[in-house]
Amino acid sequence: MLFGMLCLTSPGLTRALPAYNVRVLAGHFFSSIAGSVDLNEDALQRTASVYVHWPYCLRRCSYCNFNKYISRSNNNDTMTECLQRETQTLLQLSQVSSVTSVFFGGGTPSLAHPSTIEAVLNSVSKHAHIPQNVEVTLEVNPTPLGRSKLKDFYHAGVNRFSVGVQSLSDDDLVILERDHSSHDALCTIEEASRLCPGRVSVDLMFGRPRQTIQSWDSELKEMLQVCDDHLSLYQLTVERGTQLFKQVQSGKVTVPGDDVTAEMYQRAREILHQHGFCQYEVSNFARHNAVSHHNLSYWKGRQYIGVGPGAHGRFVPLGEGGDCREARTQTLEPEVWMCEVQKKGHGTRRRIQLHQRELIEEVLVMGMRMTKGITHRHWQRFSPHVNLHRVFGTSLDVQGLLQSGKLILDERGLRCSYEGLTLLDSILPTLLLEIEQIYAPKQKDSFKVRKIGS
Ligand SMILES: C[S@@+](CC[C@H](N)C(=O)[O-])C[C@H]1O[C@@H](n2cnc3c(N)ncnc32)[C@H](O)[C@@H]1O
Ligand SMILES: *[C@@H]1O[C@H](CO)[C@@H](O)[C@H](O)[C@H]1NC(C)=O
Ligand SMILES: *[C@@H]1O[C@H](CO)[C@@H](O)[C@H](O)[C@H]1NC(C)=O
Ligand code: SF4
Repeated sequence: MLFGMLCLTSPGLTRALPAYNVRVLAGHFFSSIAGSVDLNEDALQRTASVYVHWPYCLRRCSYCNFNKYISRSNNNDTMTECLQRETQTLLQLSQVSSVTSVFFGGGTPSLAHPSTIEAVLNSVSKHAHIPQNVEVTLEVNPTPLGRSKLKDFYHAGVNRFSVGVQSLSDDDLVILERDHSSHDALCTIEEASRLCPGRVSVDLMFGRPRQTIQSWDSELKEMLQVCDDHLSLYQLTVERGTQLFKQVQSGKVTVPGDDVTAEMYQRAREILHQHGFCQYEVSNFARHNAVSHHNLSYWKGRQYIGVGPGAHGRFVPLGEGGDCREARTQTLEPEVWMCEVQKKGHGTRRRIQLHQRELIEEVLVMGMRMTKGITHRHWQRFSPHVNLHRVFGTSLDVQGLLQSGKLILDERGLRCSYEGLTLLDSILPTLLLEIEQIYAPKQKDSFKVRKIGS
């Protein structure tokens, strides 16, 4: 097991960030650094965002393979207690002093009672500081029931709504087996925008069965008439084990080809740009700077605490003397998760220590999703000893990406060009290969083991 494993550091390195294992191979890289640790580092270590997973849905959408269960019994009091208890346990474990955002996702968190949301937020503020006006997002399924509760969610402390519209075509909503109509969706957006003007996001999917470039165009334009200042556009993935997967396999349903979905993506980028939306991430667009701070915290490699069945987290368990960031996953099945929380205070199923190499890989993969990419300052926080030019500047393959204009490496940092962002999946392997060359893989014996921090 990885539990309690010591953090490793390379010999000769006297000053490492407490949270990370520095095991850089080439020793001479160390000379360029000393004393350059960011002043904000301490403060960042003591902050995290919180993700809370509500695992229940009314029914199964045909394309969805998220961790969700169709609710039967009325166990919602136990659920509330367990979410509160796990929030407390994990906040104490992380010793985070300030929470930077909270996100209620699912599943269908708009099925939860507003008092549950309020109770969880109370637990957060009891065990960490929540500055006023911190972003608190709730995902909403735009059903009449969901809409009727928006006001109560708002009074419970939610100040941002993310509405899962998916499509504005009623026929398509039926195919997707959604639990609402497009009319329901429009009413929900309206009510949410009334409560939280400038803080409502809409999720749409493209590459859906039967969809054409023309229908996507007009759907987007219709959406732009009613939406608030944030849009998330996801390309529909046909996931194994879903109803949609079976339908596509058997030929009952067809989805547009890659060339068509690529065109849909490009059209969307253009149309949204014309309407004053700025793309700040592969799938995300905002107007008036109404970006999602919670999701930005993932892309910037910040700490987050995942509460609830199947939730993921990334944080340093300072509370038990940990000095290394861990990737944590909570038990998937709600009933099992609840039993564990009642017994142990948490339902953490898996913990993996992220040593510097793994951490840097995540920082790269997440950071490159942002249009502004990875700034030198951002990179330095995780790789204080090897700068971006050192890692990527000398590789012939990376040179190729730079020369073809897909990638940019300059005084700001490393990022995709406008064209390059579309090709991110094909660019990342080349970049990851460079990281492999520089940061040591996990090999227990190749360095002297020394415990740092604690
Ligand atoms: C998992 S849902 C949870 C929120 C809410 N239950 C809903 O359905 O709107 C979050 C978002 O993930 C996206 N999503 C889910 N399954 C997807 C898939 N197979 N391909 C692409 N996007 C997907 C949808 O856009 C959805 O709004
Ligand atoms: C959940 O519990 C609350 C009380 O905590 C109750 O008011 C509400 O009706 C319950 N919701 C469901 C869906 O059973
Ligand atoms: C933001 O993060 C939440 C929680 O992990 C996720 O469910 C959601 O899809 C993300 N939204 C965006 C805008 O990327
Ligand atoms: S898409 Fe949303 S509502 Fe549909 S099954 Fe998945 S989590 Fe539930």
